Amino acid sequence: VPPGGKLVNPMELIGTELGSLTDNIKKLLTTDQQLLHRLARYYFDQNGKHIRPLIILLVSQAASYASPPGTQPLPPSVTPHGSAPAPSDSFAAFTYIDTPISTALVGHEDDALVASFGGPAAYAAHPASRILPTQRRLAEITEMIHTASLLHDDVIDVADTRRGVPSVNAEHGNKLAILAGDYLLARASIGLARLRHCEVVELLASVIANLVEGEVMQLRNGNVGGATEPRMLLSASTQVPTPAIPSFDHYLEKTYMKTASLIAKSCRAATVLAGSPETVNDVAYTYGKHLGLAFQLVDDLLDFTGSAVTFGKPAGGADLKLGLATAPVLFAAEEFPELRPLIARRFSEEGDAMRAFDLVHASTGLQKTRDLAAQHCQVATQAIVAWPASPARDALIQLTDKVLTRSR
Ligand code: FPP
Ligand code: MG
Ligand code: MG
Repeated sequence: VPPGGKLVNPMELIGTELGSLTDNIKKLLTTDQQLLHRLARYYFDQNGKHIRPLIILLVSQAASYASPPGTQPLPPSVTPHGSAPAPSDSFAAFTYIDTPISTALVGHEDDALVASFGGPAAYAAHPASRILPTQRRLAEITEMIHTASLLHDDVIDVADTRRGVPSVNAEHGNKLAILAGDYLLARASIGLARLRHCEVVELLASVIANLVEGEVMQLRNGNVGGATEPRMLLSASTQVPTPAIPSFDHYLEKTYMKTASLIAKSCRAATVLAGSPETVNDVAYTYGKHLGLAFQLVDDLLDFTGSAVTFGKPAGGADLKLGLATAPVLFAAEEFPELRPLIARRFSEEGDAMRAFDLVHASTGLQKTRDLAAQHCQVATQAIVAWPASPARDALIQLTDKVLTRSR
């Protein structure tokens, strides 16, 4: 039974903000370079889940009940524009954002960017949302960073589909896909700088570092030094050499880096932007971290159980074909030790991927992965119930269920 006994429709809470997300992002991506213009926007014309913006907007709204507007101090790094007295309400505090501070530095095309911020006037149009213009912008920036990482990821993974359409790398080649990703990242960075909040800039910049760290951890499988031959360990019981495979801890750390960090730190950034107390920021982070871990565990599960059509990207053991051992196969290897050499050689021999796929399905690995995802959803829920009850908080709790049962 959902909290409060009824299901909350998140769109009733943040539909307005989410509805303007892709249009706002497209404004941030305006450039005279026609091809770049087209490629950078490509995925924003598709039917993305927008799960990260959804979470950030709901966290922003739910946190406003934990530290109501008007009670928060101005963030330390914020300097209100000009000599205006410090505004008494926290929404007015962000009027400085409407001032085209660095237009001279970045060029005329950014007038639209600055103006599109909305500011208190836009907020006043939807007072019920309790979402700051800066928090809305953060949601946009997060989706841009995520999409940039996908542009690069599809090059690394040689993926030919994304969001149900041909990937940018498949359509335009690797070079342009990389550059389009770089451009998205650059424009996201401008938007981030314009939030004029050092702590938030640092949080999101560290997310970008984490994304790269996670990706490299995945490439290397924890083989320090990048040994090409599988390392051999002496099994404690038999003293027989057994191939070293990535530990579950390595997998979880990689998962934090490549997926959970972005969600956790952008949730934290959302409450930091509102000047919330540290206790509130910590809850936002913990919720985001565990929901993010659950989200990726389910992603790794769907790679074995999902249909490529619903998933909108390669499935059917695509990770195995890339040489990747994710939770289902790591669990399965505990039951079927014959999987270990296959994992160690990254499923590189003829038939390895198919054999591993079948063994995973014959094992309890899929169920164990689902159970682990459910445990992380529990931890996320336990964190967020510390906040006062609100429709947004209930929506965040119910979101943990949707993450577990999603098919795309
Ligand atoms: C998707 O994983 C990819 C990521 C979550 C992160 C990828 C990060 C990089 C390529 C580092 C560069 C980062 C930036 C910001 C430019 P997946 O391949 O498991 O999922 P998929 O099935 O959606 O492809
Ligand atoms: Mg991929
Ligand atoms: Mg990848």
